[in-house]
Amino acid sequence: MSDTQQIKDKLDVVDLIGEYIQLKPAGSNHKGLCPFHNEKSPSFMVNRERASWHCFGCAKGGDIFTFVEEMEGMEFREALKYLAQKAGVTLTSTFQQEVSGNQKNRIKDINLATARFFHNFLLQIQASKSAREYLQHRGLTDDTISTWQVGFIPDQWDLLTKYLFKKGFSIDDLIASGLTIKRDGADTQSMRGFYDRFRGRIMFPIWDVHDAVVGFTGRVLVETEHSGGKYVNTPQTSVYDKSRVIFGLNKAKREIKTKDQTVMVEGQMDVIACHQAGMTNVVATSGTALTEHQIKLLTRYSKNICMAFDADDAGIAAARRGIALALQAGMNVRVIQIPDGAGKDPDEVLKKNKQIWFDAVEHATDVMQWYFDRAFLNRDITDPKDKQSIANELLQEIKNIPYAVEQDHWMQELSGRLRTSIEVLRENLKQLRQEQKDLKIGKKPLENQVTQIITLKKTRLDALTERILSIIVKFPILASVDAFFISSQALSTGIVSDLYEMLKKQYTQNKVVDIDAIRAFCATSENSENGIDVLLMEAEKDFANLKEEDTRKELTTLITLSKEAYIKQERTRLQELVKEAEKVGDNNQLMSLLLQLKKLA
Ligand code: UTP
Ligand code: MN
Repeated sequence: MSDTQQIKDKLDVVDLIGEYIQLKPAGSNHKGLCPFHNEKSPSFMVNRERASWHCFGCAKGGDIFTFVEEMEGMEFREALKYLAQKAGVTLTSTFQQEVSGNQKNRIKDINLATARFFHNFLLQIQASKSAREYLQHRGLTDDTISTWQVGFIPDQWDLLTKYLFKKGFSIDDLIASGLTIKRDGADTQSMRGFYDRFRGRIMFPIWDVHDAVVGFTGRVLVETEHSGGKYVNTPQTSVYDKSRVIFGLNKAKREIKTKDQTVMVEGQMDVIACHQAGMTNVVATSGTALTEHQIKLLTRYSKNICMAFDADDAGIAAARRGIALALQAGMNVRVIQIPDGAGKDPDEVLKKNKQIWFDAVEHATDVMQWYFDRAFLNRDITDPKDKQSIANELLQEIKNIPYAVEQDHWMQELSGRLRTSIEVLRENLKQLRQEQKDLKIGKKPLENQVTQIITLKKTRLDALTERILSIIVKFPILASVDAFFISSQALSTGIVSDLYEMLKKQYTQNKVVDIDAIRAFCATSENSENGIDVLLMEAEKDFANLKEEDTRKELTTLITLSKEAYIKQERTRLQELVKEAEKVGDNNQLMSLLLQLKKLA
C-alpha cells in the first residue's frame, strides 16, 4: 500500500476537517460552512467513508491532502510531511525523497536543527552563563525555558552557519532560511563571506500552528552601538511570513478552544510569562498589527478575543486597524486595560502582582464601549465641532460591526449621548460607507473572481445533468434510456461530461449502473477522480429524505427540463454556425446545419 493511502486510512477526514470548521452529521455525510468562500448556509460536505470533501458553493473538493493544501497554503510535499507525522506513518524512501525534494521542508528541518542548537548552547556551554543569568533574572523557570526551547547564540561571526553546513545542509538552503546572510563576493568553495543573522542574542523559536519551527526572534543580550534592534526576527522566507504566523498559537490553541477565548498581547516575553503564570490561552503577533490571515487562523479556535496593547496614541493607532478587521470578521473584541502604575506590559504586571493581570483580563472592556469612553473623554458635547468629531470617530468603528442589531445598539447609544437624532447619524454612516466603497472599487479580491468563473462556467444544462446523475448514482434502479438523451459534448464542465459519458456508455451496453465499476474508472481519470463521490454527496444533500416515488417524479421533471435546456443550447450553437456558414458562403455546411436545426424542433 502506498504511503499516501496509509495516511488516508489512519486519519479520519471528519476529525481532520473538524479541527478547522464545525461539522454536523447530515445523512451519511457531515456538513458545515465552507472555509474557502463566504456563505451563510452550509454547502460544504464531508464524507467519512470515502475520505473526501466537496463544496457545492465554490466547487472545490478533494481528499485530506488537498484540504490541507488549500487551508494551510501548503504544497503537496509539505502536506505529505505534515500529515505523515500526524498519522504516525514513517515514509518509505521514495516518499521521503519527495519530501526532502521540497525546499520548504528542508528549511523547516534547518530551523528545527537550529532551535536545538540554540537551546543546547544555552544550557550546556560555558559561554552562555550570562544569558542564563539574564533569563533567571527575568524570572523564566527551567521548565519554561525547555517548553519554549529558549536558546542563545554568542556574538560570533558564523558559528551557526558553519555548524549547519557541516551537518550537511546546503548553503543555498541556509540562505533561503534567513539564518545565513551572504556578503558580496562570498565564495562557496572556501565558505568565506557567509555570516549569521543572529548574533549575541537570546533566541526564541517561532512555531506555526502545527509545531513546525518556521522562524526565530532574537532578543539582544547586551545592548551596544552595533547590536541592532532590541529584537531581530527571521525575514520573510518561503516558510515564515510574519503577517500569517501567530506566536504561541501552537501551545495556546487547545486552551483557546476550551476557554473559547484568545488573549492577545504584544511581546513574546509577555506570552511566555503568561503561560508560565498559568494563563495558557495567550498569543502575540510579531510586533505587527493583526492581519486578516491571522484573524482567520484565530477564528478556527475562538471568535472571542481580548487584547492588551500599549494605550498611547501610537499603540492605539496600530491596534485600530487589526481591531476593525476582527470586528468585520464577526469577532467579539475586548480591550484589556492595565491599571496605572501596575506595569508597562503583562510581563511586568505579572512580576509585580499576578492577580492584577488576571483581573485585568477578566474585566476586559467591550471594544466599542472602550472606543466610546475614549471618544467622549475631554470633549465638550455642547460644542458642535466636538460633536462632529466624536461622531466621525465612532461611526468609523460602528460601521465595522457586521451584525444589524448590535450595530443599531451602538447607533442608539451614540445618538443618546451626543443628543443628535439617529436619522442624521444613519445618513452620516451611509456617507462613510459610500466613501469606503468608492475606495474599494477596482480591487476586488482575485480569489472571488476565480471562484465566480468556476461557478459561472457551469451551464444550466451542466447543472441539470449533474442533478440527474446524482439521482441515478444514488438510485441506480431509476436509470433509463431517457436519462441519457443528450450528447456529452453539449456539456461544458469536464467532470460532468466525463461522468455522463461513462454512465451513459455503461447503461446503454449493460442496462445497469454499476457504481463500483464507475468508481474504479474514476480513479484513473484526471478530470473526475472524486467525481462519483461528489455526486453521491450531492444526492445525499438533496435527496436523502425523499421517498423513491418523489425522487422518481423529481427525476422526470429534471429530464424534461434538461431536454429543453439541451434543445435551446443546441439551437443557439447551430444558429451561430449558420451565421458563420452564410458569411463564408459554404452552402453544403449551411444545408447540413439547417437540417440539424429542423431535427431539433
Ligand atoms: P517591546 O519593546 O515592548 O518589548 O516590544 P518587550 O516585549 O517588552 O520585550 P522585553 O520585555 O524588553 O524583552 C514589543 C514587541 O515588539 C516587537 C517584538 O515582538 C516585541 O516583543 N519588537 C520590538 C521588534 O520586533 N523589534 C524591536 O526592535 C522591538
Ligand atoms: Mn517587556
